[in-house]
Parts: sequence; C-alpha cells; structure tokens
Amino acid sequence: MAMRVVAFVGSPRKGGNSDQLTDAILAGAAEAGHETEKLYLCDYALTPIDAVYGAEENWTDPRQGPADELIKRMVAADVVVLASPVYWFSVSGLMKLFIDRWALYQRDGRRLMDLMPGKRVAAALALADPEPGYLDMVLGPLQQAAKWLRMTWAGEVVATSVADPGDLAAQPGVLAAARELGRAL
Ligand SMILES: Cc1cc2nc3c(=O)[nH]c(=O)nc-3n(C[C@H](O)[C@H](O)[C@H](O)COP(=O)(O)O)c2cc1C
Repeated sequence: MAMRVVAFVGSPRKGGNSDQLTDAILAGAAEAGHETEKLYLCDYALTPIDAVYGAEENWTDPRQGPADELIKRMVAADVVVLASPVYWFSVSGLMKLFIDRWALYQRDGRRLMDLMPGKRVAAALALADPEPGYLDMVLGPLQQAAKWLRMTWAGEVVATSVADPGDLAAQPGVLAAARELGRAL
C-alpha cells in the first residue's frame, strides 16, 4: 500500500550526513511506491516550548508557532522519519525543539497522542565517533517518544565515523542500508 513518508532533518547543515541518509531512505521509499517529502527543521524558526502544564485550558496553543506547520505534516504522514546528527551524545537541539513541541499539542480538539497511533517512525543518525558506546542513549528517547504516541518503530540507520559531508560516500554499505530501510518502511 502506498504511504506518505515525511522526513524531518534536524541538522542545520543542508547536504550534510543526516541529509544524505534521509535522501537514501526516501529514495528507497520512493522505489517502494511511497510518496515522500523532506522538511528541514532549520527552515522553521523553532523556539523552546513554554513550560505550561496542568489543566488543558492552560495549554499553549501550538498553532501560533512555526512548529505547527511541521506537526501538521507529521499528522498527515503515514511514516515519519527523524534524521539528526549526534550533538553531545544526543539528538541536535533543532530536533529536540521540534519534539518538545509535540507536548500539549492538539488539533480540532484532538491531542497528538490520539492522532499518531498506528503510524510508523524511523530514525537516521550521523555522528563522527567511530565506536559510540552511547547510541542507545540517543535512540532511546526517540523510541520512547514514539511509544508514548503509540507509533510503531520501523527501524533506524546509523552512520558512524562521519564528520564532514563527504565522509558518508566512503560508506556505501550504510547508504545501502538506509535505502533498504526506506524500501521496508
Ligand atoms: C555541536 C556538535 C556536537 C557534536 N557532538 C558529537 C558527539 O557527541 N558525538 C559524535 O560522534 N559526533 C559529534 N559531533 C559530530 C557530528 O555528529 C558529525 O559531524 C555529523 O556527521 C554531523 O551531521 P550533519 O552532516 O548531518 O550535520 C558533533 C558536532 C557538532 C557540531
């Protein structure tokens, strides 16, 4: 069945390693007959979410911010791809700003956690470390967020030993794995 695959790139470096991994995933998805879209988080003026908790009437209206356009596309997707460089043993700040905005979100009276169940989510990570012993620490929060939204984890692709954008070309196996992940979404 043809699905709508929407990728969110959390690197400020367009054409960089996360971006290249995303392109490979989306190329695989297109080969499998899916419709694809790529959005750069750096094109949106994302700001930290307000600390608003408790009663629903106190919730921030996320529709007032630039995150709304992104979340709208996420809600319209069947599969979400989260691509990020590893920054300081975590996803990038851009990716975190985006994910934080998922909290307290509602559209037409429906909360995000009621809009996302059944959709699939995959991740792509790029990092310079050749032997990162901390990948679970980076992937864990993404997997937990997916679980919280009752989405299905579709898999991940990780490119290690990539510092500069040209570095990924030396790892055709990783690009092939990204393409395969895209085909299997
Ligand atoms: C602020 C910053 C923090 C980084 N922290 C890490 C890190 O903790 N571990 C690591 O392996 N690489 C780290 N790197 C290297 C990047 O993950 C690496 O260059 C990656 O390929 C960048 O992906 P991009 O081309 O998609 O931007 C860091 C880079 C920057 C700019």
